[in-house]
Amino acid sequence: MRKNIVAGNWKMNNDLAQTEALISDLKAHTKTSNAEVMIAPSFTNLWHAFEATRQDDIEVVAQNMHFADNGAYTGEVNASMLKGIGIKTVILGHSERRAYYNETDESLAKKVDAALANDMRTIFCFGEELADRKAGSEEAIVGSQIKNALFHLEASAFKNIILAYEPVWAIGTGETASPEQAQDMHKFIRQTLNDTYGSQVADDMSILYGGSVKPGNAKEIFSKPDVDGGLIGGAALKADDFYAIVNAF
Ligand code: G3P
Repeated sequence: MRKNIVAGNWKMNNDLAQTEALISDLKAHTKTSNAEVMIAPSFTNLWHAFEATRQDDIEVVAQNMHFADNGAYTGEVNASMLKGIGIKTVILGHSERRAYYNETDESLAKKVDAALANDMRTIFCFGEELADRKAGSEEAIVGSQIKNALFHLEASAFKNIILAYEPVWAIGTGETASPEQAQDMHKFIRQTLNDTYGSQVADDMSILYGGSVKPGNAKEIFSKPDVDGGLIGGAALKADDFYAIVNAF
């Protein structure tokens, strides 16, 4: 079911004490919108964050996971380990993982399958590079990213998928996509879903925008008809800014 969602991707920030402090600050804020609120601490702090927010309207999600059930994958974490500490949603395909850890559409398809096989929701990230946009090939790139990683799925699987369009050139740069650019791409994504899976999958899909969302631009971006919220990086590390974005609907 299509929902408004604001998810904070903390990336590699906050040790345990800083996690405790930020969660305490977040708890002091009131949600005045209908948005689902999610935070994604690092692996080492997931359990503590889950325990600390059990009574709060905040879902703790993971930033990544491996596709295998278990085995010789040093440093990795699998779905059952995440489920075992209460984590039910995982971010997959973030551009930083694609760039630094050679994650491909094919490896991400396996991760999506593993998440679905474990009844987990996926926030699936994708987005074009600046060179792609300058060449006018952003829709071709985004279309291939979502088709290659997701379009092997049955229509019913999409109820556990949240899409996150993150133009790489807007991530961490302060160079936010304009609300019109975000809406144009989200409309294209929804139409791409509709063409293959029909209107119910397309209409029910939550499509988040990520890339320098701040308190000053969130309301205009979230006001667009095909934008259902945001995946927030830097602004998620400050409770006041994060809840200004949560309440920007
Ligand atoms: O996953 C969200 C992130 O990539 C966006 O980062 O700092 O541009 O909000 P930021």
